[in-house]
Amino acid sequence: MTATPPRPAHGPGSTWDSPEAVARVASAYRTADVAALRTAQIDLLGPIEGASVLDIGCGPGIYARDLALRGARVTALDSAPAMLAAVVEETHAAGVAVDCVEGDVSAIPCPAASFDAAVLVQVIEYVTDAVAALQEIRRVLKPGGRLLISDTDWETASWGVGDRALSDQIKRAWCATKPHADAGRQIPDWLVAAGFDIVAWEPRVLAVSDSLGDTFLGHTWPSYRRLLDRLGTVPTADLDRFDRLCTESSQRGTFSFCVTRHAWLAHSPGGSQ
Ligand SMILES: C[S@@+](CC[C@H](N)C(=O)[O-])C[C@H]1O[C@@H](n2cnc3c(N)ncnc32)[C@H](O)[C@@H]1O
Repeated sequence: MTATPPRPAHGPGSTWDSPEAVARVASAYRTADVAALRTAQIDLLGPIEGASVLDIGCGPGIYARDLALRGARVTALDSAPAMLAAVVEETHAAGVAVDCVEGDVSAIPCPAASFDAAVLVQVIEYVTDAVAALQEIRRVLKPGGRLLISDTDWETASWGVGDRALSDQIKRAWCATKPHADAGRQIPDWLVAAGFDIVAWEPRVLAVSDSLGDTFLGHTWPSYRRLLDRLGTVPTADLDRFDRLCTESSQRGTFSFCVTRHAWLAHSPGGSQ
């Protein structure tokens, strides 16, 4: 019997590289709660009209679209071809155009000093050598170039479902699926180690009061539940009970979910931006 080879962590053939992953990320990132964060984060970047901006790990292109709508000249980079196909549709539907590049944040296929700014949102938590990736981003930024980087600190996640032990068990298993579950709090140390100058910090709480609704959590949890089931790190009976508690507390109006998302603005050294 031949064993199925493990899927790559990212890029062609990975779990990111499918229409299902595109639909899941796009639906979660279109929700009103994430849209509010996105607007605040792009504001943090400052004026970008006419600037060349590299959106790294662009996913289905929602940041790329919004950056282009603000007048930036956007290059959208992702290692998953399915995501890049979605970027073309997303930006076309919005009446803007962006360049698409398939590539890895750890080896960006662009010359040095190519961009005025870069955006890296919800990507560094998946990158094993975070500092090397940030050094690579520094290489493609012009001196004084701006980097907007944002990620979640999943270790701050809390579910109010009336069973603290069970929700902590779910959180531990969820965090264990990621190379850097606490990426959000590590970002400033990584930025400094990669030689960036820190300019600003914008922490926000992503808060959801209905586990079943059209929210980030509502769109994200079902795929995490399937992953935890497949990994076997939480017994199915506990996952079923957690689902029941989420539903019942949402119906009662007592459900809560909160997690901290950090956004940082940094500059590459030199220049006058
Ligand atoms: C959670 S999505 C974030 C999408 C987008 N940045 C957003 O916030 O809307 C993560 C994306 O990072 C991409 N990705 C993961 N590891 C990568 C790597 N090493 N290089 C480039 N892209 C990567 C995945 O293919 C996926 O599209």
